[in-house]
Amino acid sequence: MNLNGHVTIVTGAGSGIGQGIALRFAEAGASVVVADVNEKQGEQAAAACRGLGAPARFVPTDVSQAADCRRLVAATLEEFGRIDSLINNAGVNFVKPTLAMDEADWDRVLDVDLKGTFLCSRYALAHMVERRKGNIVNIASVHTLATLPEAAPYAAAKGGVEMMTKALAIEFAPYGIRVNAVSPGLTDTQIWADIQAAAEDPEAARQHWFDNIPLGRVQSPREVANVVLFLVSDEASYVTGANLFSDGGMTALLINRARYASKALEGQVKR
Ligand SMILES: NC(=O)c1ccc[n+]([C@@H]2O[C@H](COP(=O)([O-])OP(=O)(O)OC[C@H]3O[C@@H](n4cnc5c(N)ncnc54)[C@H](O)[C@@H]3O)[C@@H](O)[C@H]2O)c1
Repeated sequence: MNLNGHVTIVTGAGSGIGQGIALRFAEAGASVVVADVNEKQGEQAAAACRGLGAPARFVPTDVSQAADCRRLVAATLEEFGRIDSLINNAGVNFVKPTLAMDEADWDRVLDVDLKGTFLCSRYALAHMVERRKGNIVNIASVHTLATLPEAAPYAAAKGGVEMMTKALAIEFAPYGIRVNAVSPGLTDTQIWADIQAAAEDPEAARQHWFDNIPLGRVQSPREVANVVLFLVSDEASYVTGANLFSDGGMTALLINRARYASKALEGQVKR
């Protein structure tokens, strides 16, 4: 897909999925604004985009702060003159027993994952409404459909992102603006590295996860980026208010694949 001349903002683009999206858009010809709270990683990601031949700059941004989000939009307009797409990807994952959580834990997750998505959208939308054109893609999660124990704030934030996506999609459809979500399953980023590092038996932990993913593997950030790219492209011109899952079938699964397969092999399941 060709994005020559397209201007995008990707939040949380200093690493992981956001970096994958920034690089994929750069490869497709877009001008990329990398927004991240981590200055070193943000600068490196912008440099990597430029290395692919794309105009790119880093704007230090904490998406939980309204002033930062307003400045991010202003800096993009100043440098590139317009915003064709905003990819709200910045997020923090958080797992902790509910009875050990305090108010600050809740606030941190909701402020970045939900409020940050709203704030960046709000300032970018003001510009998109003037142009009668624009695209927003919110990176949600499989947690919009089903969740895990000890993940209440994260599940609440991502569930909120999905419904906010629908609310903004219908409010701004009359202005030619499309708003969609992408819900990744297990993706090869720092989160996946942390899961394995925290396990007593990393190989058993890997296998446990893979047994619960019909495609039997973790996905790359680029695989998520390809879905985002499709959504902002004209190929998705009638898609708005959608939540597209890129999860290897994880949320379609009711029972563990390995157990089912072994029973089938033992002849216990009639085909
Ligand atoms: N990795 C997965 O398996 C997975 C699955 C589903 C959804 N997601 C979602 O994808 C998104 C990216 O996750 P990831 O796995 O790439 O994580 P990551 O930790 O690799 O990257 C997150 C990036 O966001 C930045 N960030 C954090 N707080 C910020 C803030 N307040 N303002 C601006 N930037 C901030 C970080 O500095 C980092 O560069 C998140 O929204 C996450 O919830 C990830």
